[in-house]
Amino acid sequence: MTKKPNPHRAGITPPKLAKESIPNHVAIVMDGNGRWAKERGLPRTAGHEAGEAALFDVIEGAIEIGVKEISAYAFSTENWRRSPEEVKFLMGFNRDVIRRRRDEMNALGVKVRWVGRPKRLWASVINELEEAEDLTAKNKVLTLNMCVNYGGRAEIVDAASALALDVKRGKVKADAITEKLFAKYLDQPTMSDVDLFLRSSGEMRTSNFLPWQSVYAEMVFMDVLWPDVDRRVLWRAIEEYAKRDRRFGKA
Ligand code: IPE
Ligand code: IPE
Ligand code: MG
Repeated sequence: MTKKPNPHRAGITPPKLAKESIPNHVAIVMDGNGRWAKERGLPRTAGHEAGEAALFDVIEGAIEIGVKEISAYAFSTENWRRSPEEVKFLMGFNRDVIRRRRDEMNALGVKVRWVGRPKRLWASVINELEEAEDLTAKNKVLTLNMCVNYGGRAEIVDAASALALDVKRGKVKADAITEKLFAKYLDQPTMSDVDLFLRSSGEMRTSNFLPWQSVYAEMVFMDVLWPDVDRRVLWRAIEEYAKRDRRFGKA
């Protein structure tokens, strides 16, 4: 039996919006953990720890309001440039969070999928991601794309390389390559286009997150550090999204 999400701790319920105004796929750049920690005189790692609850509150809020897919940016292909201590912490932390939250996600009907590159990623992190994928594969309430060692350019280059190999082997004709065919070579071929692209911390950039999937996403930048985010921030962003006029190039 699928469990209902726990209500927000203050008992607040989602805003009432027309079904068409709810984004299907929300991409989230969970940014600002380091600054949150610094403001408190804590090590950066304490900020990452405090960010865990934010993600899982947002997931419950997403289910409540009717979002079907969330992509969470947990570690980018550029984050290897951080200090070895922080990289090591983030690897272990991601591994532990995925393990710790697996049963809860499964109970809520969340399908967990890993999106990212295997190269350099700790084998123990890949193992936990694959365990979670296997356990939750049949769930239908919400899809959670855990983007770990993800980079948009890496994804596109890897896709181009795999496609080139298929052309060389004669499996694909070069003049038959379409956007639809190309997308089959991306990290998660069934990922839908991003409707709402959210970033916390006030930074207004995409930092290499889902460029292929976000070409027509509505961008919402929130002036709140990730550990201070909860589902109400998601709902506010969706209210903003509902006011946008999405034209997709039409007049
Ligand atoms: C986001 O918070 C978490 C990761 C990138 C892993 P940051 O660690 O980037 O926090 P700031 O941006 O330095 O405040
Ligand atoms: C993007 O945040 C990556 C994640 C949230 C995992 P960063 O903090 O790494 O991005 P930049 O360096 O500010 O662009
Ligand atoms: Mg940052």
